[in-house]
This record gives sequence, C-alpha cells and structure tokens, in this order.
Amino acid sequence: MSTEFKALIVEKAEDGSFSRSIGSRNVADLPEGNVLVRVQYSSLNYKDALSATGNPGVSRNFPHTPGIDAVGVVEQSESDQFSVGDEVIVTSYDLGMNTSGGLGQFIRVPDSWVLKRPEHLSAQEAMTFGTAGLTAGLMVNALLEGGLTPDSGPVLVTGATGGVGSVAIAILAKLGFTVTAASGKRDAHDFLKSLGANEVIDREELSDNSRPMFKTVWAGVVDVVGGDMLSNALKSCKYNGVVTCSGLVGATDFTTSIFPFILRGVRLIGIDSVECDMAVRTAAWQKLSSDFKTHKLDELTTEITLEEVEAHLLKMLEGKSHGRVIVNMA
Ligand SMILES: NC(=O)c1ccc[n+]([C@@H]2O[C@H](COP(=O)([O-])OP(=O)(O)OC[C@H]3O[C@@H](n4cnc5c(N)ncnc54)[C@H](OP(=O)(O)O)[C@@H]3O)[C@@H](O)[C@H]2O)c1
Repeated sequence: MSTEFKALIVEKAEDGSFSRSIGSRNVADLPEGNVLVRVQYSSLNYKDALSATGNPGVSRNFPHTPGIDAVGVVEQSESDQFSVGDEVIVTSYDLGMNTSGGLGQFIRVPDSWVLKRPEHLSAQEAMTFGTAGLTAGLMVNALLEGGLTPDSGPVLVTGATGGVGSVAIAILAKLGFTVTAASGKRDAHDFLKSLGANEVIDREELSDNSRPMFKTVWAGVVDVVGGDMLSNALKSCKYNGVVTCSGLVGATDFTTSIFPFILRGVRLIGIDSVECDMAVRTAAWQKLSSDFKTHKLDELTTEITLEEVEAHLLKMLEGKSHGRVIVNMA
C-alpha cells in the first residue's frame, strides 16, 4: 500500500541538534507489523517530549515520528485477532520510541501491542487517558489491591497538574478518597480542586528529607516525581501505607532510611505501563471505561492539532503542562 500521510517528523542535524516539522510520510515506509491502524487521536506524554528533543534514552534513530499513544481504526490486518474496521488502542511498548508513533496518521505494529477499544470509551476519551491515564489507573489499582479504602486516610498525589497526576486525582476522587495534591503551580489550585482534590499543597513542603522518619500523614501515595519528594512521602506514611511510584520528573535517585519499611510496614510499589502484561493492560482499560471513568474527563482535556504539538511539547519539558493534551489527527 502506497499512501502518503501527515506526521510530526523529528530530524537530527549534523551538529547533533534536533528539529521538528510537520511533513509527509508514506505507509510503505512504516516498520513491519501485521496491523495497520489509521490514527484518529494521539496524546502527549512526557516521554513524547523527550523523544521529540532527541533524548537517546527514548529514541535513537532519526528521522523519527514520536507518539507513544494512538487510538484509531484497523485499515489492514494480517492478524487473526483483528479485522479491518476494528476500533483499537495502541499504547507504549516501542510505539513512538524507535517505532514510528501516533503523531503520524498511520502506524503499523504487531498485533501483540493492540487492544480493542472498550465499548464505553470514545476515541477522545481513550486518549484523554492514554499512557498517563493507564499508568494512573494501574497506580490506583495497586493502592486498592494494597488494601486501601477511603476510610484509610488521605492519599498524596505528586506532579499533580501533570498527565498521570491529574488523572489519578480524578479517579481517586471518584472512588471517594480524600486527596492531597502536591503541585509546583500556585495558580493551579482551582483546577486541582475542580478535579476532586480536597487539599493542595506546595511541592516545596515535601522536599525535606533530613530526618529518618516524619509524622504520619498519608495512607497512600501516587508519586511521579521521585527524589526527595518520594523519600519524604515514604517517611510520612501511616502504618501499612502504600506508596506507588512511576516517574522521575524530579530525580531518578532517592534515599531513605529503612525505618518506614520495618517500623511502619510501608510498601513501595513500582508501576510500569510500558511492558506490562496485555491481560493486566486490558483489565486496566476496562476499569478506565467503567469504575474509574470519571466525569471530569472534559475538564482534564485540551484538544489540539498536529501543528500545535511543538508548543505543547516544549511546555511539557518546562514542567508547565496542565492536565491531558489530545491530538486530533484527522
Ligand atoms: N512507569 C511508567 O510506565 C510511566 C508511564 C507514564 C509516565 N511515566 C513517568 O511519569 C512522570 C510523569 O509523566 P506525565 O506524563 O504525568 O508528565 P507531565 O504531564 O509532564 O507532568 C509532570 C508534572 O510533574 C511536576 N513536575 C515537573 N517538573 C518537576 C520537578 N522538577 N520537580 C517536581 N515536580 C515536577 C509538574 O506538576 P506540578 O507543577 O503540578 O508539580 C508536571 O506537570 C514522567 O517521569 C514519566 O516519564 C511513567
């Protein structure tokens, strides 16, 4: 099939710098895979900003089309699991990293990366969740599996205005939890409260890592920041507290004493939505389309065109992003 399509193309210059433009690509040049998907919507995640600016830990081969999320319709299939016309979601694995991603109007991927879009989730809603929402869903699920209930006490969400944080707040609020949002944006308190946060604190308040333990506050934690904020959260957990961590926007390292684990039974659970099992992923998407489906999705979402992606990616790298950005690929 030889079809031209529109895509974000990241190029590497001889001096090692990276530039981005909207250009034309051909389906014939897409990588091998047994399912070709016409992309309706993509979304922006922190990893897309890293890929688009040439972070070698994310993307190594250029020219490249980023986009770790895509929702769309199967255009061609050599898989016995998917037929032409199926409405599908593809997130993570290698999509948008070193495999041409959802910020192009077509993707070609192995069927093992593809799942059917749940019945009660529109294409836009699926991308409002996207990888960020899937990750938030897995984190909330880990808190529930760890035994947390709304009566356990407050749950702390860090990186609160970001993609993972904002979706986590909305899901936790829907489930009846008391949520404290930690944010670096003083002007975002109304936004965070509208999502369901009961309290908003400045992220600086959680930067102290000077003592082996702190006063107990949190029953659970959703952390995307890492570093001292994760250390502080671990040391401030109640007995049997559950801390989930998935991100590193603050730092990749953290230090803690052993005391939260051996004196308070605190559990630290790592969350990965990139390589997680398809059965876990499918169950999480079912939850996102039912129990976890919040009526705050519209408030969370900004819809943009491919032409507007550049400005939003740069904002994301500066830590100035806000909620979820979905990209209309029509
Ligand atoms: N493990 C996985 O499978 C997985 C999946 C998805 C994402 N992630 C990771 O999770 C993290 C968040 O992703 P995202 O898509 O939510 O990103 P995002 O939309 O860019 O949000 C990150 C938020 O973190 C806060 N922040 C930014 N810089 C910070 C700093 N230096 N110190 C403290 N807080 C800072 C900001 O919120 P405030 O201004 O409100 O504080 C920002 O909006 C990233 O590290 C991403 O790679 C991991």
